[in-house]
Amino acid sequence: MSKTPTPYQRFATVYDLMGADDHSIKMTEYSHKIFRKFKIKPTIGLELCCGTGTAIEKFADMGILMSGLDGSAAMLARAAKKLRGRGVPLYHKQLPKFKILDQNDSRRTRRFDLVTCFYDSLNYLKNRRELQTSFRSVFRHLQPGGWFIFDMNTPEALKILWDEQVFAEARDDLAWIWKNDYNPKTCSARCSTTFFEKKGKAWERFDEVHVERAYDNEAIKSSLRAAGFVVKGFYRCYSFHRPTKSTYRICAVAQRPE
Ligand SMILES: C[S@@+](CC[C@H](N)C(=O)[O-])C[C@H]1O[C@@H](n2cnc3c(N)ncnc32)[C@H](O)[C@@H]1O
Repeated sequence: MSKTPTPYQRFATVYDLMGADDHSIKMTEYSHKIFRKFKIKPTIGLELCCGTGTAIEKFADMGILMSGLDGSAAMLARAAKKLRGRGVPLYHKQLPKFKILDQNDSRRTRRFDLVTCFYDSLNYLKNRRELQTSFRSVFRHLQPGGWFIFDMNTPEALKILWDEQVFAEARDDLAWIWKNDYNPKTCSARCSTTFFEKKGKAWERFDEVHVERAYDNEAIKSSLRAAGFVVKGFYRCYSFHRPTKSTYRICAVAQRPE
């Protein structure tokens, strides 16, 4: 029997080529507005599920001392290449339970004043328990008063944008077909991806399966509170407006109390 292809292995090699990291550029610009709104002056940041490291690069350009964490060695290899010479520590670790130790005292957890997590990353958590455990892990890595900013797909996004949808594009050297479906019982969507990448004169095919789950707004907020956070903002992503029933992406701004 063939093994289900693991996500973010070969996809890592074409992720930026497809422009998939454009979202994280948009999120760093939006985060900058969030910093101004809440008078946040981050100095040491951790980008969770950092992928190919584009958001880290942008935050580092803003003067924030960044670190990154991701569960995919292939995505981290791309990030390492992009961030070469910038002294950014990159950690190969998995959510929901992760621990980064202090370099100077290995008995202590390293703490940051900003943790971010962008795009569909948290939608890969399989259930509410994993979501809450992840929030607890983030909380432990924040200094008192530190901030956690993330965005996520809503159930509405998976239902309307994903269910029975096929996304396809053909470029000169890269083509892809993504077939999606949605299970309303589990609030989860499955995306079966097929890529063709031109290598010399030949085309190479690879496949990956991605499964995302979405959580309603109250579940996200109460999980944040249960982890110890104060929810300072909960928005229609890229704006400072409240989410509505037809919102496809939310952004949460949470603070570890002083
Ligand atoms: C949609 S990509 C987003 C990457 C990056 N944040 C961006 O905006 O371009 C999702 C990322 O989450 C990572 N990821 C998914 N589940 C994870 C988990 N349980 N632990 C660590 N990383 C995970 C994947 O390896 C991948 O790099």
